[in-house]
Amino acid sequence: MSSYSIESLEQYFKVYRRSVQKPKKFWGKIADENFTWYQKWDKVLEFDMQKAEFTWFKNAKLNITKNCIDRHLANKGDKNALIFEPNDPNEPARTYTYNQLYTEVCKLANVLKEQGVKKGDRVCIYLPMIPELAFSILACARIGAIHSVVFGGFSANALSTRINDSTSKVLITSDGGYRGAKTIDLKKIADEALKNSPSVEKVLVVNRTNQEINMQEGRDLWLQPLIDQAESTNVAEIMDAEDPLFILYTSGSTGKPKGMLHTTAGYMVFTAYTFKNIFNYNNDDIYWCTADIGWITGHSYIVYGPLLNGATTVIFEGIPSYPTYSRFWEVIEKHQVTQFYTAPTAIRSLAKEKVEYVQKFKMKSLKVIGSVGEPINEEAWHWYNDHVGGKVCPLVDTWWQTETGGILISAIPFVTPTKPTYASLPLPGIKPVIMDDLRNEIEVNQKSGSLCFDFPWPGIARSIWGDHQRYIDTYFTKFPGKYFSGDGALRDEVGYYRITGRVDDVVIVSGHNLGTAPIEDSINQHQAVAESAIVAFPHEIKGNALYGFVVIKEAGLWRDQNNLRKEINQLISDQIGAIAKLDKIQFVTGLPKTRSGKIMRRILRAIAEGGDYDFGDTTTLLNPEIVEEIKTGRIAP
Ligand code: WTA
Repeated sequence: MSSYSIESLEQYFKVYRRSVQKPKKFWGKIADENFTWYQKWDKVLEFDMQKAEFTWFKNAKLNITKNCIDRHLANKGDKNALIFEPNDPNEPARTYTYNQLYTEVCKLANVLKEQGVKKGDRVCIYLPMIPELAFSILACARIGAIHSVVFGGFSANALSTRINDSTSKVLITSDGGYRGAKTIDLKKIADEALKNSPSVEKVLVVNRTNQEINMQEGRDLWLQPLIDQAESTNVAEIMDAEDPLFILYTSGSTGKPKGMLHTTAGYMVFTAYTFKNIFNYNNDDIYWCTADIGWITGHSYIVYGPLLNGATTVIFEGIPSYPTYSRFWEVIEKHQVTQFYTAPTAIRSLAKEKVEYVQKFKMKSLKVIGSVGEPINEEAWHWYNDHVGGKVCPLVDTWWQTETGGILISAIPFVTPTKPTYASLPLPGIKPVIMDDLRNEIEVNQKSGSLCFDFPWPGIARSIWGDHQRYIDTYFTKFPGKYFSGDGALRDEVGYYRITGRVDDVVIVSGHNLGTAPIEDSINQHQAVAESAIVAFPHEIKGNALYGFVVIKEAGLWRDQNNLRKEINQLISDQIGAIAKLDKIQFVTGLPKTRSGKIMRRILRAIAEGGDYDFGDTTTLLNPEIVEEIKTGRIAP
């Protein structure tokens, strides 16, 4: 077990050196010593970076749910696997032991089978943050179906697009969901989506809110009666190491979302190993990650990583501000949480409230606190460190992506000294490189460039569902022989990495990945709109917010600009979801373009950000006069 758990900085450096010199030996040993296999591998790794082909643990056979559940039953059957904390603090929390989790997952697996789901079929899951979301994921994995979870905040149109791209056969949803003071009509949204999604044959509906819903005869079934009748054991499907485990959509620089494909064995080994080390997980810990399971953070570090380690993981249905700004801190005290993992945007929103909200609660149980999803600014870092971590809990700033499957750069608590705003050092087996635009490696410290990786790790995505060429083009072409993350980064003199933000057309708003292209596509569907360009500008709480420059077709016809703004945001909300709405919309008569017709976004970015405009070289602009107009009409904060 020596390389599995890292306990000193000296050991980290030793393990790191070994891991990058002999990565196959390193990962092979971890896989060998810490998991249950039906059959071990012939080869730890085969890969071709140019073709984006990766085979980890070739020909090994396993089932990930045997590793998440079954193998813990003998010693930890009565230990809590899940603690469900509902949205409403007056509703009692629910717990599920590993024994109970086993039964729930087996029953649901049997239901799916009865409904005709087979190995390799896609099952779309559109649920609020309730235990059934975790059961559904694991039930799919149990029978070898590929789960595709769609975040519950997405619109009907976004859901439909994702169901169609993955050609999902079954949809698991609920009547509704609670979110703060609101109720979300999930089934109604799903019904709307299904009008355009013919691949779905069956809809299984969880009862959460008891609200009136429409049930379509022959297609829609309440889940509970089926569960009640299902057998409570299930023989897990034997999966190949490289059989697909799930698809999870992430934004890209074209309108179509990218269905990142993750496979079984590598993802398992990687999430388990990173969870153990980055959260300093020990047997009696109560671990809580506040992300939604609809994002990769929830997949890897609410469900798979913790359960693979036999941990107790909290599933929280609510939001940080409901019923008060104390909700997070109250839950930490209530369940004696030992590891707390959240996003900078949540921290910033809570830090602006009175400090009594956090001081009222005893959070002595906390041992490690974590951050994920976007760069954490210095102020938020200190607030989090001082008021939540009480200056004694290491704060791990974890850098990773949907595409990476698990954390690649992070401090290891009690091992790596932390430094505000720096994600710090790569995990063992991970080889970051920073590249300049001429594809040279940047050796000089403190100069930022594109963050790339030189060597595959077990959790790397294997493809984009249905479009391997797009996978190659997006991640493996700009810097041949390397994985390109789309992020910028720099390295300090001791080798710590600092993430400087996206360098492509993706914007991170409140920790959510949004592509500007799909938002522009939605806006352009409005009959008054000729074209549009979206850029990000810094926002105190959300990190980034969106600023839209919109060209109207016939300005005279559209005098009620506020109404038009509302319509545009409604359109975005319908097409993508409320998370993608614009904070500012400026109507313009044209966009700055190069002679080849390309929008010069850096000019728009500079205007959106404000300050003293340094536009750089604008001599290649086709329409330089437009810049003055846009500047004059800028919407100030
Ligand atoms: C950003 C979330 C700075 C980054 C796990 C990345 C971060 C994108 C950090 C992936 C961090 C994530 N510091 N930036 N600690 N963690 N990001 O796919 O831009 O939802 O490329 O995965 O979030 O977002 P995704």
